[in-house]
Amino acid sequence: MHRTTIGLLGFGTVGQALVSLIRESQPQIHVAKAVVRDVHRQRSVDVPMTTRPEDVLLNPSIDVVVDVMGGRDPARQWIKEALHANKDVVTANKEVLAYHGEELLAVARESGRHLRYEAAVAGGVPVLDALAHHLSVVPLERIDGVLNGTCNFVLSAMEQGIPYSRALADAKRLGYAEADPAADIEGDDTARKILLLAQLGFHTTVPMASVDTMGITEITDHHLARLKSFHLGLRLVGTAALNNGLLSLRVAPTVYRVPHPFLSLDGPDNVVRVVSSAGTFWFQGPGAGGYATATSIVSDITRIIHRTISVNNPNTERYPIHPAKRGPYVCFTHDTDRSLPLGLPGEIRRLGSYAIVSEGFAAEELDEYGLCQFLWGEEE
Ligand SMILES: NC(=O)c1ccc[n+]([C@@H]2O[C@H](COP(=O)([O-])OP(=O)(O)OC[C@H]3O[C@@H](n4cnc5c(N)ncnc54)[C@H](OP(=O)(O)O)[C@@H]3O)[C@@H](O)[C@H]2O)c1
Repeated sequence: MHRTTIGLLGFGTVGQALVSLIRESQPQIHVAKAVVRDVHRQRSVDVPMTTRPEDVLLNPSIDVVVDVMGGRDPARQWIKEALHANKDVVTANKEVLAYHGEELLAVARESGRHLRYEAAVAGGVPVLDALAHHLSVVPLERIDGVLNGTCNFVLSAMEQGIPYSRALADAKRLGYAEADPAADIEGDDTARKILLLAQLGFHTTVPMASVDTMGITEITDHHLARLKSFHLGLRLVGTAALNNGLLSLRVAPTVYRVPHPFLSLDGPDNVVRVVSSAGTFWFQGPGAGGYATATSIVSDITRIIHRTISVNNPNTERYPIHPAKRGPYVCFTHDTDRSLPLGLPGEIRRLGSYAIVSEGFAAEELDEYGLCQFLWGEEE
């Protein structure tokens, strides 16, 4: 049996789970070394550790380098060095890909090596593979989804009446949220993921700055209780939509009617919906967690070993980026004893105590009417 030797950049939650999974079920893969910051830190599995990246990047016995360290630098530099040293690379690092993916994929192509990153979006859910292969033959209209487990956990706790700060502290204690959860709750993590999905799905390259991003920091348990009383619910949703040749990308707290598949997620699960000319496809499963994420990494390594993929194709389409559509919005009064003004500007429909309006109100208008508004995710 030919053995493929891999080296790890990083040996934390995902790195250690990856080694356990390989040792349980992948005898053809040998893990030679892991680059870490602190070789004295206790790990759940035993692999020789080093603080010298060249021990992996320039190691002639290593075939595949796996980046499970996170962050933009030095990951960007080390991935380039690995590709230049004729090694294939698998990464779970959405941040480095969202900012430097085009450059890194170009280096991979020039070097004739693979750069695979299934684990970077929705952890264990094989949605990138589906977009890169099966769905690449179908014109897509929209990709949207719930892509951040920390936000799901916090929002569903708040729906039960738990205040935001306590819900976030619980998410940290239970290991859903990072020690610094800013990228999760401010929407940047979802923005990186929807950008990677859009680039693959629409065969294009999109700058991170073009993702119109709003997180969940302004949402209160009162908002969620009001929405719940209308049989509505809210999740942080990333959307990439192609309309008349214009591409728009957005991350925003978005409201749906109960029941809706996006609302059924309350923890680390993710869901991605792909709307295409061949119908709507759904992908759902564990979006985080070391073991689930490791399955995507092993799948990428296995595809490289069996050569069941071609070298990453360049993104050939160039769509003008269009600002995301402003609306429709759902709005309702902040105070339960205040009634919704009649005939709101742009009102499309009214259902009991809430209305759907075509465009969002400015902050002064919201104050004047005593309203709250959120993006409306349902088709009108
Ligand atoms: N956790 C998940 O559920 C999940 C899901 C999908 C994707 N991902 C992605 O997977 C990657 C790893 O996540 P994780 O949760 O495993 O992170 P983690 O537990 O924080 O582990 C990071 C590892 O990288 C090492 N490291 C970080 N910076 C380094 C540097 N400059 N030089 C050398 N080593 C360095 C750390 O070394 P020390 O141990 O010595 O500090 C640690 O071993 C990230 O890109 C993340 O976005 C994670």
